[in-house]
Amino acid sequence: MKLKEQVAIVTGGGRGIGRAVALAFGREGARVALAARTVSELNEVAAFIRSQNGVALAIATDVRQEASVAALVERTLGEWGRVDILVTAAGVAAFGSVAESKLSDWDEMMAVNLRGVYLTCRAVLAPMIARRRGTIINVVSVAAKRAIPACSAYAASKHGVLGLTQVLAEEMRAHGVRVGALVPGAVDTTLWDQVPNPPDRGRMLRPQDVAEAAVLMASLPPGASLEELTLLPAGGIL
Ligand SMILES: NC(=O)c1ccc[n+]([C@@H]2O[C@H](COP(=O)([O-])OP(=O)(O)OC[C@H]3O[C@@H](n4cnc5c(N)ncnc54)[C@H](OP(=O)(O)O)[C@@H]3O)[C@@H](O)[C@H]2O)c1
Repeated sequence: MKLKEQVAIVTGGGRGIGRAVALAFGREGARVALAARTVSELNEVAAFIRSQNGVALAIATDVRQEASVAALVERTLGEWGRVDILVTAAGVAAFGSVAESKLSDWDEMMAVNLRGVYLTCRAVLAPMIARRRGTIINVVSVAAKRAIPACSAYAASKHGVLGLTQVLAEEMRAHGVRVGALVPGAVDTTLWDQVPNPPDRGRMLRPQDVAEAAVLMASLPPGASLEELTLLPAGGIL
């Protein structure tokens, strides 16, 4: 087991990439705090991890809200005494050209994808710094690397997360805390359900592919930091 007895918080742990990361971390021996708003999905994932002899907690969380994120970290510390790993996989996407886009979509993507990642990272820093140990993995997107039409707000939020991740990595270097960006191309999750004419979902990455990359980033020896990992569908879409 690569993450034996480590304590992980996974936001967005109810479905998609976060769910796959949580399941993989559970299999590798980590105790996993699952954070998202839909409690039924969190409970399903936690129950599955427990059925495989893993340890998991479902903690209803809205990453847009400072108090909710603080409660998530406090509950995890209360249960298990530390946070070794944070994976920020909570995210939303809406697509459309700038000309046709809605301000409410822009605001929501900034609130979840950027403010949410900022709040969650910030909340785990003190306990990680105190132990001079920790790994933060922010789920970015290939949209932060390539200009993809019809996704300006999403791309802007992900560029923001990449910048935040890079600066935080520098700030945390002296504290023994690793900070990295996991940058996937298209992954077949429910995020694509609302997208008209999506690329061929059969050729996308699977959530478990991304989870394997997260396990790699989290399980490297403490002296090595994988600070950016780009994972694309081998077939070359997005
Ligand atoms: N799918 C892709 O092609 C792809 C590619 C690259 C990067 N990504 C990124 O990967 C991350 C996960 O995406 P996904 O495809 O797994 O999406 P998904 O299947 O839609 O899952 C998104 C997760 O985020 C949670 N979430 C949304 N708003 C939240 C909030 N305010 N507070 C807490 N949790 C919230 C959702 O739970 P609730 O709604 O219950 O809160 C859900 O668990 C996102 O950051 C996305 O941008 C996705």
